[in-house]
Amino acid sequence: MKILIKNIRSLVQVRESGTQKISGAEMKKLPCLENAWLAIEDDKIADFGEMKDFPGITDWSNLQVIDAADKLVFPSWCDSHTHIVYAGSREKEFVDRINGLSYEEIFKRGGGILNSAKKLNEASEEELIQSALKRLNEIMMTGTGAVEIKSGYGLSLESELKMLRVIKKLKILSPLTIKSTFLGAHAVPSGITKEKYIDTVINEMLPQIAEEKLADYCDVFCEKNYFTKDETIKILTEAKKYGLQGKVHAEQLSHSGGVEAGVECNAISVDHLEFVNDNDIQILKNSQTMPTILPGAQYFLGLQSPPARKMIDAGLPLAIASDYNPGSSPSGNMNFMISHACVHYKLTPEEAINAATINSAYAMDLSATHGSISIGKQANIFITKEIPNYSYIPYSFANNLIDSVIINGQLIIDNGK
Ligand code: NIG
Ligand code: FE
Repeated sequence: MKILIKNIRSLVQVRESGTQKISGAEMKKLPCLENAWLAIEDDKIADFGEMKDFPGITDWSNLQVIDAADKLVFPSWCDSHTHIVYAGSREKEFVDRINGLSYEEIFKRGGGILNSAKKLNEASEEELIQSALKRLNEIMMTGTGAVEIKSGYGLSLESELKMLRVIKKLKILSPLTIKSTFLGAHAVPSGITKEKYIDTVINEMLPQIAEEKLADYCDVFCEKNYFTKDETIKILTEAKKYGLQGKVHAEQLSHSGGVEAGVECNAISVDHLEFVNDNDIQILKNSQTMPTILPGAQYFLGLQSPPARKMIDAGLPLAIASDYNPGSSPSGNMNFMISHACVHYKLTPEEAINAATINSAYAMDLSATHGSISIGKQANIFITKEIPNYSYIPYSFANNLIDSVIINGQLIIDNGK
């Protein structure tokens, strides 16, 4: 099967296939080809160029031609931080926050992550698969082509395994590229000491997860009332013994040492970062760890903004992900995440788009195959509606600007007809 997209107003994020991540001032550049064509063969990007150099079609067999006049083509968004497998919803806590309770106060009353854990424990594997598939479909329609999904609402051996087995099935059932993260250390369940729970995470959960090859990464929520820096290091060090690289929920509600813990353990990413300080920025500069901001959670919880501008100006790379989850970011719409980062953190559209494509691909070890328009990469792309240029995406916020989505070389949705 072949697809040819022709007359593309702008082919966005065209890079050498070896590009892993973009840092600092380089993030202000977003390479594009104007008036371009793109050829897809099977599930890969086969070739592209400018229309003036278009070589013509020699073989029409099995060829689908799409005319993208006045439309833009992007590599699909890469969403490197989600909690898409969950049961129920938490709008009551949303209203409680409007009425003055904080995220921490709600957690201390047994809400928050513990509320989702209770609901997840009661849900069947099949219910979790069906609801997660709906959400995956929804994010696919808004341009996401690769996604990381965490456990962390199980909080017992049995339920964490249930979540990770669901994610394993989603990898088969959904056309999206999916990475799986074990987040047993998301909160301490009631009725057990933290020491005992960490012991369970390390000595019961990790071995079984490794045995069944259920996770690609191991994450810890490093935060006051959750897990300390030392506990984070302890868990990530154990995970490494099973070949699981770390990720950290770091510096979200307070400064807790999550960045230091992540860098010390060579985590692939440290995420949230509202309370990152100058020392953390220096530490990150000497690392391969991707700082990742989650605008949805910052917006929804009304937290202070992460110093994203400062991090890029210091020469760091930066990724954007959605944190799609029922408590702190009940949306996986990456177009909104980008717009919010531009408006409130003063990222330029180029920086935000680099952050949500190649850099967020890096944050789940997918930059060799996703996150840019490069020959040989996975043909996961989207075609916009008729829009003037890429800045229009963050500018025209909350509007659906996506016309068609192609995943693994298959035209999945086509709103253009
Ligand atoms: O990334 N910060 C911790 N974990 C999630 C929220 C989980 C929840 O409230 O259910 C987050 O924001
Ligand atoms: Fe999260």
